[in-house]
Amino acid sequence: MIIAIDGPSGAGKSTVSKAVARRLDFSCLDTGAMYRCVAWKALDEGVSLDDAEALARIAHDNDIAFTHEAGDPLPRRVSIAGADVTDAIRTAEIDRSVSPVAAVPAVRAALVAQQQRIGRAGNYVVEGRDIGTAVFPEAELKVFLTASAAERARRRVAQNERRGVGSTDYDVVLADIVRRDEIDSSRDASPLKPAADAVQMDSTGRTIDQVIDRICELAKE
Ligand code: CDP
Repeated sequence: MIIAIDGPSGAGKSTVSKAVARRLDFSCLDTGAMYRCVAWKALDEGVSLDDAEALARIAHDNDIAFTHEAGDPLPRRVSIAGADVTDAIRTAEIDRSVSPVAAVPAVRAALVAQQQRIGRAGNYVVEGRDIGTAVFPEAELKVFLTASAAERARRRVAQNERRGVGSTDYDVVLADIVRRDEIDSSRDASPLKPAADAVQMDSTGRTIDQVIDRICELAKE
């Protein structure tokens, strides 16, 4: 079974996906982390973000792997070509670079193929932007999670403070979220939009626990 959780930056997808996966005894897949890995590798190799061919080559030629820590059923760490980039992909520089990378159709094709391979191997909560529309259009449950931009920026600042990586300046974070939403929604390749059969949930003014409870209820129906 696949549960698809899509939505804009900072809507709470990661927290919700992990909690739902834990409760239902599913695994989870953070597809945004994969686009971030490709952006990281491009910056590391000095590849220009305008060079679609080189970006596609990076996505195609480098293995991305999610790994578990002892005693934890959910993957916590991510690496590309053997380099652990778990923290390195959460910097403000990657926030700024990832949307142009994700807009390249051949990058998407390479990563979507990997995502489908991973997800088809078991029960997965898969989070991203195009999971219900393009990666797993056959998903049994699709959720489109949103919240106001102000709320999403507040949550992302709190998350960055906890992780100790990424910007903790509210205005910087809000500007990045608004800019990224704009690029993600207006690109030609799999733009961010709810699948026709997605359940839309606005988490502004709801607690994350209420959202998690609702998704688990829907999954059991
Ligand atoms: O956590 P946050 O919402 O900030 O972003 P993310 O889920 O880590 O995704 C980072 C970026 O990857 C997004 O802004 C999109 O440009 C891209 N992405 C995508 O195009 N398709 C996906 N399925 C997941 C992420």
